[in-house]
Amino acid sequence: MSYTIKNVAIAGAGGNLGKIVTPTFVSSGKFNVRVLTRQGSSTAGLPEGVEVVEVDYSSPESLQFALAGQDAVISLITTPAAMTQLSLIDAAIAAGVRRFIPSEFGSNLANPKTRANPVFKHKVATEDYLIEKAQSTTLTYTFFYNNAFLDWALRANFIVDFASPRPQVLDSGDTPFSATTMQSVADGLVGVLLHPAETANRAVYVHDLVTSQNRLLALAREARPDRHWEPESVALDDLVAVAEKRMAQGIFDFETIGPFLKRAIADPECGGVFTGKTDNELLGLKGKTDEFVLELLKDHLK
Ligand SMILES: NC(=O)c1ccc[n+]([C@@H]2O[C@H](COP(=O)([O-])OP(=O)(O)OC[C@H]3O[C@@H](n4cnc5c(N)ncnc54)[C@H](OP(=O)(O)O)[C@@H]3O)[C@@H](O)[C@H]2O)c1
Repeated sequence: MSYTIKNVAIAGAGGNLGKIVTPTFVSSGKFNVRVLTRQGSSTAGLPEGVEVVEVDYSSPESLQFALAGQDAVISLITTPAAMTQLSLIDAAIAAGVRRFIPSEFGSNLANPKTRANPVFKHKVATEDYLIEKAQSTTLTYTFFYNNAFLDWALRANFIVDFASPRPQVLDSGDTPFSATTMQSVADGLVGVLLHPAETANRAVYVHDLVTSQNRLLALAREARPDRHWEPESVALDDLVAVAEKRMAQGIFDFETIGPFLKRAIADPECGGVFTGKTDNELLGLKGKTDEFVLELLKDHLK
């Protein structure tokens, strides 16, 4: 059955990704946007005139009220609160919402090795819940995979630590991986909701380009010829082994989680290269070139 999506509820709109997705939806002029936010959260920075509804994620009535009349929910909820999405999904079904996009926006969870990665346990549980519900209700889902956030990863010195003269590279440093700016994620989400039939009950894959740590280092040297980086090779398996020990000790900080994320992004067996299978064309994404990355690096390294 064909349907159009007009009313879009965005949960987690004030976060890192939400700050880009929300204005993109508003300025597209194609949707009515309603933001769901917890009581006491700041709404500063949300686009002017956007409808804001306070919700209590522990109250089904509150969530159902907030989702009344909505055609789609985009969840941009922070990863530690991922399981909150189950009550949001229940409320979406009760309110007659047609499409739910859970908070994923990263690794290829269709890859068995990535699906078993412990840091994605709650994202996988959310996917499984949606798959089950889509079989018995009118709710549909789209899973959005974009591998690494290019701009976020550069800013956080996550993929290459440009703040260090001896940044780590994983194994040879040449392993290719897909990367996507948060703006392209936002544009791709608009594309998903403009193509509800083509994106129903499946994962979409997008990327701006395929790069590698060594390629990023080469571009960084071009951006800042006055600076010097001497990369240090580390075995990804060794990094993950240390992280596994920390996890077994109950330590769940970023030092533990980071190597698991790096595995999902850049281990050749984890499905992090999307060449040949992207939905870029359907969703209206044109991809980016190294020149674009060079400009990002010039900005980051100034
Ligand atoms: N691929 C990548 O490289 C990459 C990098 C970073 C993030 N991501 C993914 O992008 C998605 C969004 O991440 P983000 O960094 O934008 O998130 P974030 O900034 O940490 O948080 C987003 C929003 O979550 C809401 N939130 C916080 N605690 C909550 C709770 N206990 N219950 C319900 N809502 C809560 C808040 O909204 P309110 O206060 O308004 O309720 C917050 O603004 C995640 O799935 C994350 O894994 C991917």
